[in-house]
Amino acid sequence: MKTKQKSSQKNKWEDHYSRKARKENFSARSVYKLQEIQEKYRLIQQGNSVLDLGCSPGSWLQYTATLVGGSGRVAGIDKKAVSLKLPSHVTVYTGDIFSIQAVMTEELRRPFDVVLSDMAPDTTGNKTVDAARSLALCEEALAVAGRHLKTGGSFICKIFQGEDFKPFSDLIKTRFTISKIFKPKSCRKASKEIYVIGIDKKQEEICPDTVSGHP
Ligand SMILES: C[S@@+](CC[C@H](N)C(=O)[O-])C[C@H]1O[C@@H](n2cnc3c(N)ncnc32)[C@H](O)[C@@H]1O
Repeated sequence: MKTKQKSSQKNKWEDHYSRKARKENFSARSVYKLQEIQEKYRLIQQGNSVLDLGCSPGSWLQYTATLVGGSGRVAGIDKKAVSLKLPSHVTVYTGDIFSIQAVMTEELRRPFDVVLSDMAPDTTGNKTVDAARSLALCEEALAVAGRHLKTGGSFICKIFQGEDFKPFSDLIKTRFTISKIFKPKSCRKASKEIYVIGIDKKQEEICPDTVSGHP
């Protein structure tokens, strides 16, 4: 009975993108969302340094590592450990975004060209609660970008659409020269998730502690 339930649940989530991810050795189907964003906006370049917030199980790390190449740097953080073998220019930290300063102290001394957040909260099924939890993660991701993203850098952030989606996307407009909203085709149809993208971070958002190395 248990086995039957497990396999029917597995089949429920199985789709073209999950099969493709398995075939191409990516740890999650989420990789195709970032791939679509990259193909449209070309925000991650060879040699870039990229911070990946909510990086487990690691498909964005795998893809980003290839885009930046060995001359680049990728650092990821997640509450859940990443068990993948990754190239030497990728470093993964296990911890909570709300404690990022303590978890990644040394890593954060050098600013990043791109900050990614694919963080998703534990969901309850209540759309209002889930959207509020997602917003809290997005606000923290934006605060991290405020401190550790270079001027001119880019920010890609997943958010569950709720009543605070518009104020959050308006906030992005104040911090970046260009802002975009993008729903990848690879997002599941039933999902409320969407990506808010900030391009060309404005000067005033530089955090003095990132530049000086002080917390
Ligand atoms: C959709 S998954 C990310 C998938 C990832 N982009 C990939 O390609 O493998 C969302 C992740 O956000 C993480 N997350 C949620 N809240 C977090 C928090 N407060 N701090 C760190 N990670 C968090 C979850 O543990 C989960 O692994």
